[in-house]
Amino acid sequence: MKNLFDLSGKVIAVTGATGILAGGTAKYLQAQGAHVVYLGRNQEKVDKALTEALQISKNCSGYTCDVTDSVALDRIHEKIMAELGRIDVLINGAGGNMPGATIGPGKDVFDLDMDDYSKVLDLNLKGTVIPTMTFAKTFKDQGSGCIVNFSSMSATQTLTRVLGYSNAKAAIDNFTKWMSTEMALKYGDGIRVNALAPGFFISDQNRALLINEDGTYTERGQQVINKTPFRRFGKQEEVYGTIHFLLLIRQLNI
Ligand SMILES: NC(=O)c1ccc[n+]([C@@H]2O[C@H](COP(=O)([O-])OP(=O)(O)OC[C@H]3O[C@@H](n4cnc5c(N)ncnc54)[C@H](O)[C@@H]3O)[C@@H](O)[C@H]2O)c1
Repeated sequence: MKNLFDLSGKVIAVTGATGILAGGTAKYLQAQGAHVVYLGRNQEKVDKALTEALQISKNCSGYTCDVTDSVALDRIHEKIMAELGRIDVLINGAGGNMPGATIGPGKDVFDLDMDDYSKVLDLNLKGTVIPTMTFAKTFKDQGSGCIVNFSSMSATQTLTRVLGYSNAKAAIDNFTKWMSTEMALKYGDGIRVNALAPGFFISDQNRALLINEDGTYTERGQQVINKTPFRRFGKQEEVYGTIHFLLLIRQLNI
């Protein structure tokens, strides 16, 4: 009987692959036998990710691009197809917040910076929609493919002060349902689109908001922990299995 979770020979493109959650997931999936394409915005960080990836196996490559740049993504998509001939999975891991799209301490609701608000919507929402539209063309041609988006618990629960990011992640939930329905109706049962909604994991973006320099929780960090039954932040490896499960790629002939 086949191992339904075997990833050998699969090609997996990961955006935000220089970050904590998507970067860790990318390495985990490569270690399971997939060829992983590390996509990041910063050349130095992509180079570093690739150096580390090469210690896992030779099944890796990397490209630099902004996830909101459809022309750059088209070019990279073509390069991957020319080099590897197929793409099985797209993981949309790039995302994040900006101070102006959040109501800072001591600030009023009406102090929202609309410029930063728009940038956060663009990064998280368009930065998921654009790579999806680019790579899903190949999934359509292949009749198979798998997309995993990063939503957040803030999509469905009110996270005080955090408006732009929560709006964008709620829209990712909506987009995920829309895209999965359209793909299924138009192209059959080989293409799946899902999202995961992590709670709080410490990353460079939120560390200072949640943890003091002496390792204790900030007031905000403590509020989060109070609402978390495990009474701790997430560990990055806790998302790997969830994503692996979502990648079960049309292997029905067991
Ligand atoms: N850390 C958490 O608590 C948490 C919780 C819920 C959801 N998420 C989501 O998980 C995903 C990964 O987050 P993380 O915590 O690993 O953060 P991270 O900051 O470690 O990683 C985010 C990555 O996105 C990249 N990125 C940012 N803007 C980009 C752009 N315009 N083009 C290309 N790449 C860009 C960054 O370079 C970085 O590598 C994000 O979508 C985030 O919103 C994180």
